[in-house]
Amino acid sequence: MVDHAVLLEEVTRTYGKGATEVAALRRVSIGFPRGSFTAVMGPSGSGKSTLLQCASGLDRPDSGAVRIAGQDITRFGENELAVLRRDQVGVIFQAFNLVPSLTAWQNVILPSSLARRRPDPSRVRELLHRVGLAGREGHRPAQLSGGQQQRVAIARALLGRPEVLFADEPTGALDRRTGHEVLALLREAVDAFGQTVVMVTHDPEAAAQADRVLLLTDGRIVEVLDRPSADQIGMRLGGRR
Ligand SMILES: Nc1ncnc2c1ncn2[C@@H]1O[C@H](COP(=O)(O)OP(=O)(O)OP(=O)(O)O)[C@@H](O)[C@H]1O
Ligand SMILES: [Mg+2]
Repeated sequence: MVDHAVLLEEVTRTYGKGATEVAALRRVSIGFPRGSFTAVMGPSGSGKSTLLQCASGLDRPDSGAVRIAGQDITRFGENELAVLRRDQVGVIFQAFNLVPSLTAWQNVILPSSLARRRPDPSRVRELLHRVGLAGREGHRPAQLSGGQQQRVAIARALLGRPEVLFADEPTGALDRRTGHEVLALLREAVDAFGQTVVMVTHDPEAAAQADRVLLLTDGRIVEVLDRPSADQIGMRLGGRR
């Protein structure tokens, strides 16, 4: 039996009511095996971000279950969700949620500090260096570009080595070189530390770093590709992109 870090069972999420109702996810069932790297692709509006938000406990599905470490997190209250996010789940989302008054360094160590862990300064330095922020440790978010702020959020998510890491277009705003480094960090999280990574991307090259690619269309998983090449992904996306 596969050991799933995260398991979605018949997850449905609908936004709005009546004429404006949108089914963002339609009875999606999928498991993310422990220590695997999954890329989620599909057209704009197909439900990728909704999938990550429901799977990470940031959003609550209308029906269905989301199991993390055997527990259905859709039944969690706010406190349990906060503990889940502190201890088990890392997120890199389009809104970076950095604290404006804190420096890059302070933002990176904040969750660890709140969890009363003592982050190793050499690892904080290494992470900031690898995401291309060496020399920016003392800058506040307002003094950083959008892409740089996102890299702070990436370093912050990686520092605690969460069991599961959800990333929504983590390389979308980055130049090629920084994008490669971020993908290498995610791959390393899986290969060296057995973490489970789920990443939304529009980039076939980035998706080719994953073990598996899910294609979403209109709130459903329409295809699962195992270890596809960038060319195979590009071909499958074809008209759907
Ligand atoms: N808060 C919301 N209120 C109403 N509708 C929403 C909300 N969030 C998402 N939707 C709708 O749900 C559908 C799925 O949205 P979602 O953000 O998951 O798409 P996506 O695949 O991440 O797209 P993109 O590639 O553009 O980021 C879309 O039709 C979107 O308009
Ligand atoms: Mg999205």
